[in-house]
Amino acid sequence: MIASRLIVDRDFVISELDRRLFGVFVEHMGRCVYTGIFEPGHPDADERGYRKDVMALTRELGPTIVRYPGGNFLSGYNWEDGVGPREKRPRRLDLAWYSTETNQFGTNEFIEWCRALDIEPMYGVNLGTRGPDEARRFVEYCNHPGGTALSDLRREHGYEKPHDIKFWCLGNEMDGPWQICRKTAEEYGRAALETAKLMRSVDPTIQLAACGSSTHEMPTYGAWEDRVLDHCFEQVDFISLHTYFENRRDSTAEFFGNIEVMDLFIKEIVSVADSVAARKHSSKRIMLSFDEWNVWYKARTINDLRKPGWPEAPRLIEEVYNHEDALVVGGALITMMNNSDRVKTACLAQLVNVIGPIMTEPGGRAWRQTIFHPFAQASKFGHGRVLKPVVDSPTYEAETFPEIPYLCAAVVDDRATGTTTIFALNRHLSDEMELDVELRGLGRERTLDHALELYHANMKAVNTVEAPTTVAPAVNNAVSVDGERVRAKLKPGSWNVIVTTAR
Ligand code: AHR
Repeated sequence: MIASRLIVDRDFVISELDRRLFGVFVEHMGRCVYTGIFEPGHPDADERGYRKDVMALTRELGPTIVRYPGGNFLSGYNWEDGVGPREKRPRRLDLAWYSTETNQFGTNEFIEWCRALDIEPMYGVNLGTRGPDEARRFVEYCNHPGGTALSDLRREHGYEKPHDIKFWCLGNEMDGPWQICRKTAEEYGRAALETAKLMRSVDPTIQLAACGSSTHEMPTYGAWEDRVLDHCFEQVDFISLHTYFENRRDSTAEFFGNIEVMDLFIKEIVSVADSVAARKHSSKRIMLSFDEWNVWYKARTINDLRKPGWPEAPRLIEEVYNHEDALVVGGALITMMNNSDRVKTACLAQLVNVIGPIMTEPGGRAWRQTIFHPFAQASKFGHGRVLKPVVDSPTYEAETFPEIPYLCAAVVDDRATGTTTIFALNRHLSDEMELDVELRGLGRERTLDHALELYHANMKAVNTVEAPTTVAPAVNNAVSVDGERVRAKLKPGSWNVIVTTAR
């Protein structure tokens, strides 16, 4: 048994949590759209072709914003191909994923799907094969009320009211050698600036995110953000971050170190963005959009990334997640909450089938992967102000990060309801953790509303279509509340959510 303490104070606040932290990503890749969210002819599809089983699971997952349509796909996409009468839409070669894109699902179908689920859309503009002109035309098509050729075209397509898309990404991973029409930082910074100016002229209410580095390991990391922001600082609101966690050495303890690296990554990008602000003598603060993040390393061979013969909706990167992956996803959510003063939006990549928390079979069932659970619980209970956690925990040393506390925790307090939620990982692999929490100034008379854990004795346990609940949340009976103190026993290698309300 190891012991850890966690102390928070009602007055020590990191930030109000931006609910857009619980976003996801839908790309035209593999089976995320086709046979994922959209499958006309599926026994459970509605009249528009949306799979109702996937919609129900998406509701339960609780994303607040969804990024679309890519990803690498974005850099070769013509938005015009995906609007208007379906029978006239072109079939195209998708050079990002070597697939055939039928364009049977496009902007308007996506917006309708978002509205049906009450999720905000986050839209990307192609800065690979295209540029500022197409981007401003696209904003006009989507957001202008009417009376111009492009806004009237949307109305002709059956959408009288503007889509009012607020959040836009200026391209995708433009630093990556794999990107269609990759750019240097100078080229991209200039393109982002000019594109942003035109898009904002059409709709001054939009928010814009510039591409940061594709990964923390890129050779141009840091310098890329500095140069890009040097160009477009005045015109953008966000810089993006992407990361995919890998269990490179098949060591759970090392794998957990990625959570600390994510924290470092965020703090480094904040420093770079603020140093650009300093150089410009500006008090403006660029916020962070962590708009692609997840675990992804098992389904990463060339055979996972492309299939021969330009197929439609091939099975690409259908990573099967295990228990330790769910713990890392939980740790990433904790890290982003604890950096919520600067990380305002984030997207788990992706939603369905393609490195997704939801899996489907074409014509068949849908089920929850292990990583579904920490995300759904964080979105459900993550409301209010994030309090600064003071963690007193034994640590261990790893190659991925030199000093890793066994306890990884975030505390969110919702003043409106008096509810305080503790999210906690026990990263010790063999010992239970005795956790002692002090909730200072948050009310002495408290009820324990929920004590939930995600635990499995086997780190490699997975959920499948035949056994979809092998890894699933359960009640933790070893939790008690006494005045301002919460005491809990956390199982080794477990994710925990404790919800308590002041009476
Ligand atoms: O999410 C899969 C791919 O990973 C995205 O298309 C790309 O942006 C990233 O490299």
